[in-house]
Amino acid sequence: MRRTRPSIASLRKEAEHCRACPLWKNATQTVFGAGRASARIVLIGEQPGDREDLTGKPFVGPAGKLLDRALAQAGVERAQTYVTNAVKHFKFEPRGKRRIHKKPNEQEISICSQQWLDNELRAIAPELVIAMGATAARAVFGRATAIGKSRGHIIKGQSLVSEVEADVIVTVHPSYLLRVPDEDRESAFEEFVKDLQLARQYAP
Ligand code: URA
Repeated sequence: MRRTRPSIASLRKEAEHCRACPLWKNATQTVFGAGRASARIVLIGEQPGDREDLTGKPFVGPAGKLLDRALAQAGVERAQTYVTNAVKHFKFEPRGKRRIHKKPNEQEISICSQQWLDNELRAIAPELVIAMGATAARAVFGRATAIGKSRGHIIKGQSLVSEVEADVIVTVHPSYLLRVPDEDRESAFEEFVKDLQLARQYAP
């Protein structure tokens, strides 16, 4: 673990050539975090998807559009936040012309988050971390976390794996909302917005 406080710009440059686990081999590029390096709020997802892999930017595909809509409805400006992922390369399985998302395993999550996410958190030192989904929660807490039990409130003053102390909101991953049955989607989206509204008090 590095002791000096890194800068986001230097970490991003270094991460371009990351070979810490085999996921780089099939991915187009590293998808590093994006947003304000001085943000008070950091949002964390799982790993880049197909669009993110091609563009090099986090949360720009369907899950990103949904996140944008939810943030806007919650009154939190994405431009004032820093958005990143626990894992920085797209893990997928080719199926015909499509690339199907594959969940990163525990080793990939821990190698990648120790190398990059933990240093992003040290560099930014945010007041609030929003862990979206089980992979993000595992990366920040270092253990499995039940999303359903942990969501809906602010977990104050957590000492994270990165040794950064921050308040934490745990919520669902926006991709989950794309998969819930039609009849439940609206209420699941409202719940997600409610979780994000808790972040409003940290917004500048
Ligand atoms: N899902 C994620 O977890 N991250 C992204 O950047 C896009 C989709």
